[in-house]
Amino acid sequence: MKRITRRTLLAGGLVLAGATACAAPPPRTPATPSTENPSSATQVPSTQATAMPQPFEPIDAFEQIKQLGRGVNFGNALEAPKEGEWGMVLEARFFDLVKEGGFATIRLPTKWSAHALREAPYTVDETFFQRVDWAVDNALKRGLNIVVNMHHYDEIFIDPQKERERFIALWAQIAERYKDTPASVVFEPLNEPNGALSSGVWQRLFEDTLAEIRKTNPTRNVVFTGADWGGPSALKAMKRPDDPHLIATFHYYLPFQFTHQGAEWANGSEAWIGTEWKRTSNERVNIDFDLDNVAKWARENDIPVWMGEFGSYGKHADMESRRLWTDYVAREAERRGFAWAYWEFGAGFGVFDRAKNAWVEPIHTALIPQ
Ligand code: BGC
Repeated sequence: MKRITRRTLLAGGLVLAGATACAAPPPRTPATPSTENPSSATQVPSTQATAMPQPFEPIDAFEQIKQLGRGVNFGNALEAPKEGEWGMVLEARFFDLVKEGGFATIRLPTKWSAHALREAPYTVDETFFQRVDWAVDNALKRGLNIVVNMHHYDEIFIDPQKERERFIALWAQIAERYKDTPASVVFEPLNEPNGALSSGVWQRLFEDTLAEIRKTNPTRNVVFTGADWGGPSALKAMKRPDDPHLIATFHYYLPFQFTHQGAEWANGSEAWIGTEWKRTSNERVNIDFDLDNVAKWARENDIPVWMGEFGSYGKHADMESRRLWTDYVAREAERRGFAWAYWEFGAGFGVFDRAKNAWVEPIHTALIPQ
């Protein structure tokens, strides 16, 4: 079954989503930005600390996909309007858990647009920058890759022309800030372009943004996606820009009625509660078809693939269906040479249960088989 629309956002729905995603709000740690010296190992058990990050050395995009491997999104934290508003505040121990849990990569959804001036020169708030620095340092100190993205820039989906200059200016600052970090820091210009940011408009904006990023990061790998919520069929309308340091991404949530059953931010999702996924041949064929199409486009465009989000909302879906679906999608992605990042670490789709302080075993072992 093909996804028709990614989802219909209810007014304020994402705030609602975040607020309802975790039944019991976890103990709140103040979101104080860290100004600690990144080389200080105080927050990291010495067994986890690796040598200080090496300076940037270019890495082939296909090689980088092998290194990105299996990853997880730190969702509901820095892409909320304010960290903590959606019940998730990042803690240093989450980075340890991710590392010990067998993941190689963190995707860091980040709502830069809520932390920068509305008017030129669109300066990013220094305190917020330091919070992202802290996350990047914590990943690097543990030898984890980290993909820094731009998440929930909602205004740009309504009026891309009006937001164009600000969007590019934000990336100029992010690219400058992280230009000396190792290649294991990857940039992803925009999560799930949609609305008025249609394929053609997005293709041009991506290329202009890439040109800006290239002024400071000539060879860092950058993540390229399609419009239409970054779904598996959206890439087809996109032409890979003429730049060797690109990684393609798509998000996979099909069948949507299964993965988003009862999701407060998806219109009509109440009616989907009880949808199972049993790994029938029909169900498998639909997923194979989507992944094959992505692989075909990627071959034609000579670009490696990273499935940057996939997951199922845990509030209503039965655990056995979730386990089967997660295992199937992850293994089939791997079989096609795609790296991936699960959506997400510790909230409504979570692979880690913060209330119990334990992995959600069926999901964790589906992602990282023993
Ligand atoms: C959105 C999240 C949402 C998830 C699953 C992500 O791209 O940013 O808010 O929970 O997709 O729908």
